[in-house]
Amino acid sequence: MHRVLLLAVMVLLPGGCGVPAEPGAAAPAPESRTLAPVAAVDDARIRATDAEPQNWMSHGRSYDEQRFSPLDAINRGNVAGLGLDWHFDFPTDRGMEATPLVVEGRMYVTGAWSHVYAFDAKTGALLWHHDPKVPPEWAVHLCCDVVNRGVALWQGRVYAGTLDGRLIALDAATGALVWSQQTTPTDKPYSITGAPRIVKGLVIIGNGGSEMGVRGYVSAYDAATGGMKWRFFTVPGDPAQPAESPALETAKATWSGGEWWKTGGGGTVWDSMAYDPALDLLYVGVGNGSPWNQQIRSPGGGDNLYLSSILALRPETGEYVWHYQTTPGDAWDYTATQHMILADLVIGGQTRKVIMQAPKNGFFYVLDRATGEFISGEAYAQQTWTTGIDKATGKAQVVETARYHDKEALVLPSPYGAHNWQPMSFSPRTGLVYIPVQEIPFVFKHDPAYRHHQGLWNVGVQIEAAGLPEDPAVAAQVLKMVQGRLVAWDPVAQKEVWRVELHAPFNGGTLSTAGDLVFAGSARGEFAAYDAANGTALWSAPVQTGVIAPPISYAVDGKQYVAVVAGWGGALPLAGGEVARLAGSVNRSRLLVYSLGGKDTLPAAVQTTRQPEPPALQADAATVAAGKTLYAQYCMACHGDGAVGGGVVPDLRYMSAQTHTEFEAIVLGGLRHERGMVGFASVMGQTVLDAEGARKIHAYVIQRAEAEKTRLASAAQAAAAGSAEGPR
Ligand code: HEC
Repeated sequence: MHRVLLLAVMVLLPGGCGVPAEPGAAAPAPESRTLAPVAAVDDARIRATDAEPQNWMSHGRSYDEQRFSPLDAINRGNVAGLGLDWHFDFPTDRGMEATPLVVEGRMYVTGAWSHVYAFDAKTGALLWHHDPKVPPEWAVHLCCDVVNRGVALWQGRVYAGTLDGRLIALDAATGALVWSQQTTPTDKPYSITGAPRIVKGLVIIGNGGSEMGVRGYVSAYDAATGGMKWRFFTVPGDPAQPAESPALETAKATWSGGEWWKTGGGGTVWDSMAYDPALDLLYVGVGNGSPWNQQIRSPGGGDNLYLSSILALRPETGEYVWHYQTTPGDAWDYTATQHMILADLVIGGQTRKVIMQAPKNGFFYVLDRATGEFISGEAYAQQTWTTGIDKATGKAQVVETARYHDKEALVLPSPYGAHNWQPMSFSPRTGLVYIPVQEIPFVFKHDPAYRHHQGLWNVGVQIEAAGLPEDPAVAAQVLKMVQGRLVAWDPVAQKEVWRVELHAPFNGGTLSTAGDLVFAGSARGEFAAYDAANGTALWSAPVQTGVIAPPISYAVDGKQYVAVVAGWGGALPLAGGEVARLAGSVNRSRLLVYSLGGKDTLPAAVQTTRQPEPPALQADAATVAAGKTLYAQYCMACHGDGAVGGGVVPDLRYMSAQTHTEFEAIVLGGLRHERGMVGFASVMGQTVLDAEGARKIHAYVIQRAEAEKTRLASAAQAAAAGSAEGPR
């Protein structure tokens, strides 16, 4: 039986709550021990989180989301002796983005498809597993993989969002469902991938879906009962109707023309939040415009508040306090949903209470978190859309041609961001922020034939134009521009202090510790520790898959551990193409826990050796070209630019001969819908593809498979002739 399936069956069997017995799944065998009773995490404990450094009780460890562990038993002097202590292989094979939470020796972590797991944090024994049974078809409404970024803990319960928009409360001791609340309308392509935060007994949760077409909001639910307390919409609805809040009345004037409200307008709150108990302000990061293309969304221009903004709200009421917009009139998917960190910094001789963010648009921002006042903002990566920030107004100056009105525009950063959701961390000891940075060029081109497709991608640009050029020489040039690196940033001086090149984009989030270490995983499948002061690589371990999630540190019985979930996936790996192949990773979803002297080992990586098996191409060039356009519109987001798989879902060039015969049954009929591959004959009640369309796409895929076969053959020939280049 397939290994992942085997694990799935074992975990799902009644009574099969133990660690799967397969050798290597979690070695050494867990000792049985009595766990401390489940403890009640609450406001007071999270506020005083430094009093219990052994625990990691909320998403960013503390309400200020610094992701700094005060533990220092593992430090610069001894980190070279770090070894795998235990690991767990998850029964899923999609992207892993979660931050594990640990309290009183129990670890809670989410995986693909919104599954929730609890472990004995010392032994790795699986305590329980909750599968919220997300309908697999919902995957088509997700821009960026069937991921989840973690849970929240409160009063003996575990809270998580599900891909289909539910907020669930589980009993922390047993995993039993306590309550479930649908937080989104089920006839709209909303999704939840972000971790809830809990403030004053209210579970704060947003959602995603701006690529598909939704209206963003954030809501608060009573942690005890699941009853909704408030909801704050981030963008105006129908201007003919009264606005839901005074803040939205103001926002209305910054939108002009178009009918954005009919399809949503975007501005989803899909990830970042922070809380300052002293100021009693809840900060939420707001996403991009929907569609991306402002000419379609708001053709008269305008700033389009509160897209791409940081919002400060009152946690008990959702009342607006201030906002800062990072990208005026967003046209590039420049979300401001990236991780936000609160810290007190000495700037110009004064201690300032700041909020920091490095959103997709490439600026590192330092704002006064009491008032939203702009303090400083400088580029942490290459930008072509702006000439910089006007220091008097704090407003980014936009290069008009980057808006691709008449002509396509090559823009940096790309919609993947110069930094995406992968959390950064702050060390109060070095004063530095550690950021996974990337540079990826992207071509934006207006789509004059745009029409809305219910529940599918609706970004208003010709995605095909963003594909890697077919000319191999030009493609090689573009790929050379793609970069990924770990950067240490001085937020006071607003400048880079050190960097480590990682040679591929979409690397893992970071953890900093009182041991003066920075931990981070990479797209290329290494988990590593660096000297926080200068970036010297002090330790690393291969993990056999790309790491995008952020590590944490905790202690049980006085022993310090570092944990990270590994598993290639998420936006860029799913979107595939040669850019994602720079990492060379494939998904293996696992949890890895390290300690000094840890002796666990990973099972040998299973190598798959498939060959393209395309039937003879019978279509003409025009059919292939038409297939390419349809492919870009409907398939590329998951199967990759150029049909080059990114290592997450199947690479269509490598389909078996059998799968080729089932192509239409899969693509139209939904033969594989249980694994997240919907039938495209109709989505949300609207006709999408017919048999002719599917045949055109198939012709394009066959052509790509033939090209790959030829490449493999010549690479094999070259290898036989003694050249260094072999098949990949
Ligand atoms: C939302 C993501 C998503 C989109 C969009 C998508 N697919 Fe898939 N597709 C998947 C997943 C996941 C699988 C793997 C299913 C499995 O494991 O059996 C898959 C599998 C397939 C397979 C079987 C491949 C094999 O080797 O087993 C074919 C064929 C396929 N998709 C074609 C398409 C085509 C054509 C389109 C565009 C019309 C498309 N897909 C769009 C997610 C997607």
